Amino acid sequence: MFAVLRRFTRPALAATAATLLLAGSSAFAQNIPAPNYDEAKVPKFELPDPLVAADGTKIATADDWRDKRRPELLDLFAREMFGKRPSVAPEKIKFEELTSDSNALGGKATRKEIRIYFDAPNQTPKADLLLYVPNDRKGPAPVFLMPNFEGNWATTDDPGVRAFEIAGHFWNAGKTPEQTRGHVKGRWSFDRIVSRGYAVATLCYEEVDLDFDDGFKNGVHPLFGERSDAGDETASIAAWAWALSRALDCLETLPEIDATKAIVAGHSRLGKTALWAGAQDERFAAVISNNSGCGGAALSRREFGETVAKINKSFPHWFCGNFKKYGADVNSLPFDQHELIALIAPRPVYVASATRDTWADPKGEFLSALGADPVYRLLGTDGFGDVKEQPKPDVSVGATIRYHLRTGGHDVTDFDWIQYLDFADETVVNKR
Ligand code: GCU
Repeated sequence: MFAVLRRFTRPALAATAATLLLAGSSAFAQNIPAPNYDEAKVPKFELPDPLVAADGTKIATADDWRDKRRPELLDLFAREMFGKRPSVAPEKIKFEELTSDSNALGGKATRKEIRIYFDAPNQTPKADLLLYVPNDRKGPAPVFLMPNFEGNWATTDDPGVRAFEIAGHFWNAGKTPEQTRGHVKGRWSFDRIVSRGYAVATLCYEEVDLDFDDGFKNGVHPLFGERSDAGDETASIAAWAWALSRALDCLETLPEIDATKAIVAGHSRLGKTALWAGAQDERFAAVISNNSGCGGAALSRREFGETVAKINKSFPHWFCGNFKKYGADVNSLPFDQHELIALIAPRPVYVASATRDTWADPKGEFLSALGADPVYRLLGTDGFGDVKEQPKPDVSVGATIRYHLRTGGHDVTDFDWIQYLDFADETVVNKR
């Protein structure tokens, strides 16, 4: 119950503000139907074929995919959903090591905090990357990069991690940073990750761009140059995804990290973010979507749990203006989310659901992974292996595409991490 409440408290507030702001706008005047949780009421739909280009030509070879379909889909997702893909002069980005302690996690790890300046001459905006690197390693360590919601200090009760005010930070409103230290440490199996030989890096997404609708004025948005009036303004998920690529730039500078083995992961809205980051930036060796739901792994056309209409209303800033027009007719979307996963191909991808996370439509997440399989096959991988049906709970299935349905609610647990570590061992470190 607590988790459910927490999940809705902030979005509900943001939604209220957004609703007030948008009241009267015809795109939002529509009533949002109550969410459907009945499999029998899922409308009939046909998924777009990822291997047919917009002009109707069949994508028959890996080269066709690479040269024609992949760029076309990237452009479509940018224009119609996430907004323009930002480009910022590389010289604006700077990294500064703030702290380093080789005796973290009981001596198992070296902890670093590295500041990423997104606009170095102005010192702001910035985000602090928290990094644990295993001390017991033979060479540079593979790394998980996963953004966090509440601040780096909330991921651990390690007192060496600095806690600080993030102006406008909403998740912890009314609390001092110290009061939230370790608050979500259950989601971050740092000890286990490091013991398995992986480094792990995280930053707080609200340092990049605050999570509310301010017309894209705050955070990193002003760096993205000319505003667009074509409905494709870079929206917040795209801004957070862009920052993950900047974090990867930073990891690439560290001799103790093997940035060719960087796995980008995210939970929930940050799972949507990880998918978009991984789809665009091919330096990410693998991608993990944990309970990412609507706008992430879940198919939009199923209209089960959260819908496009609902997400656009509650979180208008996550997606660009053009996405708003699809709420009333998801079948007119020129893509569905299986094609977002396909954009990660041939790199390994893990989609994870949870039994009680019906809002995120576990079956829609599974079907999306399945729908990406033809692209993975075309590119010469074993795709989803022999998986055709959603597996029973708590079994990890698949090959280069992997999936599980964990027993429980909307969360990241130790069970999830154990699967992710096995997946990373098998597909990234000891390549299939
Ligand atoms: C809300 C939202 C989801 C999102 C989730 C989260 O529930 O409707 O789309 O994934 O928040 O990020 O926690």
